[in-house]
Amino acid sequence: MSLEGKVALVTGAGSGIGRATARAFASAGAKVVAADLDLARAAETCDGIEATPVAADVCDPGDVARMVRTAVEAYGGLDVFHNNAGIPESVKPLAEITRDEWDRVLAVNLTAFFLAAQAVVPPMRERGGGSILVTASIIARRPRPGLSAYIAAKTGVTGLARALALELAPERIRVNVINPGPSRTPMLRAFGLGAEDDAIGERLPLGRLVEPHDIAQAATYLASDAAAAVTGTVLNVDAGRDLT
Ligand SMILES: NC(=O)c1ccc[n+]([C@@H]2O[C@H](COP(=O)([O-])OP(=O)(O)OC[C@H]3O[C@@H](n4cnc5c(N)ncnc54)[C@H](O)[C@@H]3O)[C@@H](O)[C@H]2O)c1
Repeated sequence: MSLEGKVALVTGAGSGIGRATARAFASAGAKVVAADLDLARAAETCDGIEATPVAADVCDPGDVARMVRTAVEAYGGLDVFHNNAGIPESVKPLAEITRDEWDRVLAVNLTAFFLAAQAVVPPMRERGGGSILVTASIIARRPRPGLSAYIAAKTGVTGLARALALELAPERIRVNVINPGPSRTPMLRAFGLGAEDDAIGERLPLGRLVEPHDIAQAATYLASDAAAAVTGTVLNVDAGRDLT
């Protein structure tokens, strides 16, 4: 699972899964650009690794272009893109979701992937291929009531990723999806599931939460040449949630 010689860009890299993935990519030998809304937290992620932090709102096309440019200017190209930034939705019935909430959840969790995909393909093409990863969610397969916008967005990124996997296969740009189950990050609390983190983990078949490191290992595999024949795949890293 070496990423030696590769340049990787990770969004939402200031926390949780994105931070763990940026660090795992660097440990595997990649040069990393860590993008987040919160520059200070992206910079913390880069402490002690070969990485450059960048402030970017993934919903802003200008910021998206700038984070890609940072990778090309700092490290000479782009081979791996992990579209990971996301926001939760507060649990409520469909009738109570405002148009603004719907638009925001869809913008960060779905439209941002469309914007980033348009921006990362040209530099990957110049390298003769690449690997694009998207953090969706097991909730796209195992819905819960009260999270309609989030579930719609995560189902949408999965569809977009599979469509792109086919479109970009002739150019050796692979596109894969990771579905985390409940993971030990600040976002888990934000969903307001009403239980302590470890109690949520105990209800999963493996009896444990997913750790950010678990996702980072899966991402490193999919980013690496070890997965050279893998595209259009949806990999659940969910402690067995899909089985329940
Ligand atoms: N934690 C879970 O249980 C879980 C489960 C399934 C899927 N996910 C998904 O995993 C991904 C990572 O989530 P996490 O759990 O690490 O959450 P987190 O809240 O720890 O980290 C999310 C990061 O994204 C950044 N971010 C938010 N909006 C942004 C924007 N507009 N532009 C740039 N950065 C932005 C935040 O600043 C934060 O650093 C998300 O896509 C989330 O939907 C999480």
